[in-house]
Amino acid sequence: MRSALLLVALVAIASTVQAYVHIPLTPRPRTDVQKRALLEMLKFAQNTGGINFMRPYMGFTPNDVPVIPLQDFSNTQYFGDIVVGTPGQTFKVIFDTGSSNVWVPSIKCRSIACLIHQKYESGSSSTYKPDGKEFVIQYGSGGVKGYQSKDTVSMGPVKVKDYTFGEVVQEDGISFIFGKLDGIVGMAFKSISVNGVPPLFESMVNQSLVEKDMFSFYLSQTADSETKKADSALLLGGSDKKYYTGDVTYVPLTSRTYWEIKVDDINIGGKSTGACAKGCRAAVDTGTSLIAGPAELVAPIIDIAHVASDCSNINELPNIDLVLNGKAYTLTPKDYVLNVTAFGASQCTTGFLPIKLPERLGNFWILGDVFLSKYYTEFDSANNRVGFATSVQPPK
Ligand SMILES: *[C@@H]1O[C@H](CO)[C@@H](O)[C@H](O)[C@H]1NC(C)=O
Ligand SMILES: *[C@@H]1O[C@H](CO)[C@@H](O)[C@H](O)[C@H]1NC(C)=O
Repeated sequence: MRSALLLVALVAIASTVQAYVHIPLTPRPRTDVQKRALLEMLKFAQNTGGINFMRPYMGFTPNDVPVIPLQDFSNTQYFGDIVVGTPGQTFKVIFDTGSSNVWVPSIKCRSIACLIHQKYESGSSSTYKPDGKEFVIQYGSGGVKGYQSKDTVSMGPVKVKDYTFGEVVQEDGISFIFGKLDGIVGMAFKSISVNGVPPLFESMVNQSLVEKDMFSFYLSQTADSETKKADSALLLGGSDKKYYTGDVTYVPLTSRTYWEIKVDDINIGGKSTGACAKGCRAAVDTGTSLIAGPAELVAPIIDIAHVASDCSNINELPNIDLVLNGKAYTLTPKDYVLNVTAFGASQCTTGFLPIKLPERLGNFWILGDVFLSKYYTEFDSANNRVGFATSVQPPK
């Protein structure tokens, strides 16, 4: 059986020209209520000198808890499917490079959030194995709780047997935020995994189910438009030139916790701001929507690149560069201005979010989807680096 499954996976890999597994990501627009909340939160963040922000285990002390959950501040969330058990049960998940665990709701979950989502039923899976260890991820607005279970977990043709994941029996306070997703697949490193569970992708690499110890994200910028269903994708085990133009340029990883890199500088209108003279860190985070940064460094950006709510000044706004490993990655106003339509009214706002973080983290940035939809990204664990290239919109 095992070799048969392996064969299926290998044939699937061998039969495509590029040696990677293509996992489609579907952009889903948020509801009007969610978009209104996004606008309110952005305004709140700007008026109060930054909101508290945490991702799981940021700072890596045992008591650390995340405060802002996934893709909270976007027009769009990028969903993909995973299949758990035999026969397979399908779940809509976010592939999140800012956390490291896999969890899905359990059939035993009675929380309101669980009622409206797919639930895992271990009793109807022939490959289920109990584990039972407590599984808890805290969020600022609540949390998920449950226990660990083991079963076959698949992404596309890649099946990982006896994979340990969180079977969630309680979802508190986040039903609204997590409106459309059933669960999460963490794509960061084992060092920040709850209970030290090996991340799913690492298990794939160890079991030689993917070609390379690398995955890539292509996030379409046109994701919010129902009419232009762009094909966003996660490429497991490789990369593909069809998603970008020019060369991929690389930035070394500074820590294998999040996908953490160093930011050299922020330029506004081509001029250095010296914002990172004392050093800046950044997590490359598919699970966050905006570009979040320390409030005192983001405030001047929002000031100088002040977005009129009707977008009337979009042609006068400056470009903003993030300088990474000596290279400037430019965001034009079109890249960093969000146009959010809720209840029939449109409002333009900046894609930079001021945040407050625990002091020990220093100047920490989160490069979320606003950046990653402009720059196709290779998460190259094998070579300890992240690669960026200008995304093709839409792909060839
Ligand atoms: C993969 O193998 C390495 C080296 O043998 C080991 O340290 C690591 O824990 C393994 N990870 C998984 C997910 O099995
Ligand atoms: C914002 O989006 C709405 C809905 O797609 C559109 O009608 C409007 O023209 C856009 N506004 C700007 C300034 O681009």
